Amino acid sequence: MKEIRIGLLGLGNIGTGTYKVLETNRSQIEEAAGCPVNIVKILEKDIDRERDITVPRESFVSDAEEIFSDPDIDIVIELLGGVEPAATMIERALCSGKHVVTANKAAVAANYHRLMDAAKAHGVTLRFEASVGGGIPVLTPLSSCLRANRLTRVLGIVNGTTNYILDKMTMEGLPYDEVLKDAQAKGFAEADPTADVEGIDAANKLSILMALMFDHYVHPKDIPTKGITEVTAKDIEAARKDGCLIKLIAYAEVMDDGQIKYEVRPMRIIDTHPLSGVHREYNAVFVEGNVVGNLMFYGPGAGPLPTGSAVMGDVLEIAKAMDR
Ligand code: HSE
Repeated sequence: MKEIRIGLLGLGNIGTGTYKVLETNRSQIEEAAGCPVNIVKILEKDIDRERDITVPRESFVSDAEEIFSDPDIDIVIELLGGVEPAATMIERALCSGKHVVTANKAAVAANYHRLMDAAKAHGVTLRFEASVGGGIPVLTPLSSCLRANRLTRVLGIVNGTTNYILDKMTMEGLPYDEVLKDAQAKGFAEADPTADVEGIDAANKLSILMALMFDHYVHPKDIPTKGITEVTAKDIEAARKDGCLIKLIAYAEVMDDGQIKYEVRPMRIIDTHPLSGVHREYNAVFVEGNVVGNLMFYGPGAGPLPTGSAVMGDVLEIAKAMDR
């Protein structure tokens, strides 16, 4: 392979972070790929938005078909966010014979089989490591290094915005609204933070975790979900008196009879549990396997650079497997 040519869908916060990861670590990334890696076309309407990266104007396209029909583009990175039109674009890219990398948990969770089947049918790869846990490598270890296990349980802090809000309310006594604004300004929260605070984003991520861990797909709408909007300073204080913290937890467990229990809701976590040490926008996925025991994957769960790190990691995984 002479060059890996990428078409990028979306140059918002995460798209800009991904672009920056490639610019910052270009020599390391290209050494790992064994060839130059370039983002050659970008689908984005807002060309003039202020960004702290320099993008050649000729990279911008206004029609995604210019990317899908370009025979020189190998990989499409989808960072539009939201279910549609993102899912249709991912499918279109796969059906055009492009490998796809996405950070889009909403699109993957709502269309898991449709997208996986499209990738299989067209002999290409769909990777979405960045969709759960931001910069934390969690999906790849769960589906490769831990394959020798029967995975039985997951407890995840998988939404950075809500962990940030609950943590600031708990540790600094700050009011909910003020901390939410702060999380939005820092670029963790979704464009519409309802998806974060109502637990919908965590349900999307739990749907993906269950599909990979238990080979059991549940549409996120079918996951019982409660967010953090009703958690009060009084609840936090009462939990503290009992030696606990309140965290938004994505939980799933395979019971002895093979049934799977799952839900997303604020839960009390005893202050000696490793999940109680997960602060700010950090995420952690606590997993139980029948031979490995308990593991916790921990790290920055949101934000442009951590997410861009996982996106470019997926690009390199695809590069490894591409014909050279
Ligand atoms: N809004 C998400 C979060 C972004 O706060 O975790 C990362 O998926």
